[in-house]
Amino acid sequence: MQPRFSLTADLVLSREVPEAALPEIDRAVQEANTTLFRRGVPREVPDREVGRITSCTVSGPGMTITLESGGYTRAHDALFRFRKHLAGLLGRHRIGIREIEVRDYLIELQGEIPEDLRLSTLPFVREVGIGEGRITLALSVSAADLENRVPDRLVRLVEEKAEAAAYGGKAEHWELLYESPKRESRFREDPTAEMIRRGWIKHALSRGQWIHGAQSTRLFRTFESLVVQEIIGPLGFTEMIFPKLVPWEVWMKSGHAKGVYPEIYYVSTPKTRDPAYWEEVADHFKVTGEVPVNLIRDKVDGPIGGLCYAQCPSFWPFIGGTTLANDCLPARIFDRSGTSHRYESGGIHGIERVDEFHRIELLWIGTPEQTVETADLLHERYRHLFDEVLELEWRSARVTPWFMAQEGIIGGEGTSERIGTTDYEACLPYSGDWLEFQNVSVNGDKYPRGFNVKVQSGGDLWSGCSGIGLERWTAAFLAQKGFDVDAWPAEIRRRFGDAPEIFRFV
Ligand code: SER
Ligand code: ZN
Repeated sequence: MQPRFSLTADLVLSREVPEAALPEIDRAVQEANTTLFRRGVPREVPDREVGRITSCTVSGPGMTITLESGGYTRAHDALFRFRKHLAGLLGRHRIGIREIEVRDYLIELQGEIPEDLRLSTLPFVREVGIGEGRITLALSVSAADLENRVPDRLVRLVEEKAEAAAYGGKAEHWELLYESPKRESRFREDPTAEMIRRGWIKHALSRGQWIHGAQSTRLFRTFESLVVQEIIGPLGFTEMIFPKLVPWEVWMKSGHAKGVYPEIYYVSTPKTRDPAYWEEVADHFKVTGEVPVNLIRDKVDGPIGGLCYAQCPSFWPFIGGTTLANDCLPARIFDRSGTSHRYESGGIHGIERVDEFHRIELLWIGTPEQTVETADLLHERYRHLFDEVLELEWRSARVTPWFMAQEGIIGGEGTSERIGTTDYEACLPYSGDWLEFQNVSVNGDKYPRGFNVKVQSGGDLWSGCSGIGLERWTAAFLAQKGFDVDAWPAEIRRRFGDAPEIFRFV
């Protein structure tokens, strides 16, 4: 979209401008329009595209300036460039610029406008006009907002929204990479229903949450031990513990703050831990038997962030703002210290689409070559595991990178050939659907950039991650192999052994 910017601002001066300075100001305006604003702009760009002062009037201890521009030396950039120049000029007359008050700021965007573009809630926007290939945004902004590049960010945001709206109904990016041999499956039930029937799991009291009994837990641990033996051990991943409560600052740097809001489990803190402050809440419960949620809402601060969502972002403050020694790369680590949480709403299904789940997250950091190499090694190992050990019917596909999807960007296949996400999907014989049960991603420099991590060599630093979903592995495995443990692939049968019955009911 082609942007145009126009801006009117009042400059508050420390005293009246003397008659003698007026011609100098006129000259400064001319000079700004012909040379100052053209600085850094390619020669072939037409004048119309470049910022210019269209009017400048002096009255008493003040000036009113109007500027217009296309995409080059945008009106606000031009204003600040001119201020610097003007400050020198006025200084010679012992006049200071006290303040800049923005009277009007108008952005106009020309181009194709998709139908369901929603702009009414944009921050700083006082009025929106949409029509005939044209969007106008009237802003209420301060000079500080302009210095903070608010107009540029708004234009970028509107363009992103237009791209997303235009992309609309089209399917997500999905490109097949590998398909395993077909496998015969005699079992044709939904494994969750069968797990419930056998008492392996029970619905917990929160939405999309299960209590896993001994057998289900045993299967999780069976898979985990396999991952340790086949992947973590041979490739030299070392265990760490990543926090599971994620403050906004982490998500601001990881990019999740751009789009993850509909799926967060929000976390709040008490305004005080003074028992007297909370007494009425406890009393209310004691008398009514109900927890007074509205009362509690008044007594907490935040949300300060949310529960773990993507698992790897919480690691990055560990090395944020540092320079890594060349010889510690590639670094390979993993976390399996807790749950991830997503508000799945209507999407909940079985044990595989839940609000609380368990995942082993592998994370690696290195040069671009080292990062891609680690991903390739993982693909090899996973393939062996799923073909030879778990004997699954599965496939892998290149999809929209998770770090883009989680920011609310739809569709794209990533920023380059080497950067992106591969999903692993297993066939579910009972429905004929495919279930994504893990992924491998090369995330490029996104995280080192977001958390300001450098490398001694001064070269590029990349990272990758792979999320191994234990509920998803279990759902895929049981859907294909069923519950006759003796018929399971030998290695799984051996590791699973006999899961004890703990509870008997009368
Ligand atoms: N962090 C990645 C994701 O959320 C891999 O687990 O998908
Ligand atoms: Zn990750």
